Amino acid sequence: MKITLSVIKADTGSIGGHNRPSEAMVVKAKEQVESATANGLLTDARITFTGDDIALLMIHTKGVDNADIHKLAWDTFVETTKIAKSQGLYGAGQDLLKDAFSGNVRGMGPGSAEIEIEERPAEPFIVFAGDKCGPGVFNYPLFECFANPYHNAGLLLAPEMRAGFTFTIMDVNNTEADKIITLKVPEDYYDIATLLRDPNHFVIESVRENATGLQAAAASTSRLHNIAGKYVGKDDPVAIVRTQKTFPSTGEILSPWALAHYTLGDNRGSHHVAVMPVKQNSIISYFDGPTIISAAGYCVHEGHLTEVVDLFDQPFWDYVRNKSAEKTLAIRAQGFYGPSMAGMDELEYTGVVENLKRLDAKFILRNTIKTS
Ligand code: F6R
Ligand code: MG
Ligand code: MG
Repeated sequence: MKITLSVIKADTGSIGGHNRPSEAMVVKAKEQVESATANGLLTDARITFTGDDIALLMIHTKGVDNADIHKLAWDTFVETTKIAKSQGLYGAGQDLLKDAFSGNVRGMGPGSAEIEIEERPAEPFIVFAGDKCGPGVFNYPLFECFANPYHNAGLLLAPEMRAGFTFTIMDVNNTEADKIITLKVPEDYYDIATLLRDPNHFVIESVRENATGLQAAAASTSRLHNIAGKYVGKDDPVAIVRTQKTFPSTGEILSPWALAHYTLGDNRGSHHVAVMPVKQNSIISYFDGPTIISAAGYCVHEGHLTEVVDLFDQPFWDYVRNKSAEKTLAIRAQGFYGPSMAGMDELEYTGVVENLKRLDAKFILRNTIKTS
């Protein structure tokens, strides 16, 4: 059976600052997708939240970029915004950057990742959802789990993976059109590494098997920074990764997250901190962070989802969470100096730029070199 997995996620307001949506908002989102399931638009759906973002996982047969599915997501976020406003929550409607829906949520604020698949007899997959980070947060873990035998032992042990994978990578600084490049491992390994080393500029959009062309992963690529032209919240991306058999195993896909890699996000979207793998429905706290990622595992069968397995809810990840907190505290100890805070081109608030302009007028030139 051909089905589509669509994950669309947005921040439409939260309690206590940018920390979590209210229960009433989550209930409203559930009602919306349940009624779409009853009406036959969806075959199944789940609602979760990660920090201040609500994620809609929608299963259907309409294909990717379908206007009805995207409208359902947009309308749901309009409804949760209304609740946020009525409850006096902070940042109500934060990620709804346009006034009216125009066919697709891409470029309008919400993050989305979608895959159309021919269902395998057993179809396990993972939904990753991040808060206080940009889409480049997936560069390191997705490249590592598909291309590096340190994490994906299947590249050595499972003959069906030997042909490697194809990465579609987007230049997210190009706002005129989707500017993409398609490169393969193993042959283009160094070229891919050259791009992915800059996760604020080049981000993985999708991964496919070289042997079959089957899509293994999709990640959101939108940068609010580039849509709104000013800071309106961090992008808070989502990704879907299919697992097992000819794809990396669930554990191989989780393996790179044990590094708790440094990424840009956290407070005011402008600090480098270590990613913390968290349980479902975790909140934001220390320094408006840290950057968090949740991982929900499901199987889908004939368009219907199993219950969820919360993949970071296991004692191993308590150790990683502690390590992540230590790494974050280590770089936070450096305050605003050097690599602790974002570089000039990635600063999400304009204060520094305005201060520099003001100070520039006060600089004087001493010992000017005479040329005549
Ligand atoms: C980062 C984030 C927060 C806010 C910060 C200031 O993505 O959501 O760190 O940037 O709390 O928020 P405002 O500008 O809304 O007062
Ligand atoms: Mg927010
Ligand atoms: Mg958020």
